[in-house]
Amino acid sequence: MVRNWILLFGIIAVFAIAMVGLTILPKLVVDPRVEAVDYGNTFEIVQGHAIYVREGCIYCHSMQVRPEGFGADFERGWGRASEAEDYRNLTPHLLGTMRTGPDLSNIGSRQPSVDWHMIHLYQPRAVSEGSIMPPYPWLFEVVNETARPNREGLSLPEEYRIPGKKVIPTDEARYLVAFLLSLNQQVPGMED
Ligand code: HEC
Repeated sequence: MVRNWILLFGIIAVFAIAMVGLTILPKLVVDPRVEAVDYGNTFEIVQGHAIYVREGCIYCHSMQVRPEGFGADFERGWGRASEAEDYRNLTPHLLGTMRTGPDLSNIGSRQPSVDWHMIHLYQPRAVSEGSIMPPYPWLFEVVNETARPNREGLSLPEEYRIPGKKVIPTDEARYLVAFLLSLNQQVPGMED
């Protein structure tokens, strides 16, 4: 009979610990101000997030930075340690497990240049020597130099230029870059 009580106590304890650990504690570590946060997602950013998913960028890039002193993330300049608030914005969350390339949690502040991102997506090696990141040429259109006079082509290094042609980003490239630039660890309205 005594052992039944122990069993019952054990069952209740397991549920209680699980409840505290999985629901109550996580709720306490999320800053309450986050409820009111407006992330300022534009149409472009939301579309870009979907293209990031579609193109499988997650297979090589994580979005989760380890705390200082725990691995080399801080020394690599990838930003502060990730916090719960960082993952409230767009779903699915793209934490990733592979780091063939750098973590992108804070890429928007590390590399804010639209032109750099465009050239890098079209041909990573044009801006990052010997890069093993695949190019994404289907996000761009190659047209005659004289076509679309109101659209400027990418300023590619000599070796990647196509004579008589210019490379212009499609809307999808614009969306993806808008999403990349939105990736920074500043949660709006919660700067401290
Ligand atoms: C096969 C692995 C692989 C895939 C897939 C991949 N990348 Fe990369 N990426 C890399 C590597 C390696 C680097 C570092 C070299 C460089 O800058 O090109 C990198 C660098 C980057 C950088 C610059 C990071 C920095 O800190 O300077 C950005 C931005 C980026 N990738 C975005 C993307 C996006 C967006 C996609 C999907 C469209 C993508 N990557 C897909 C491997 C990959």
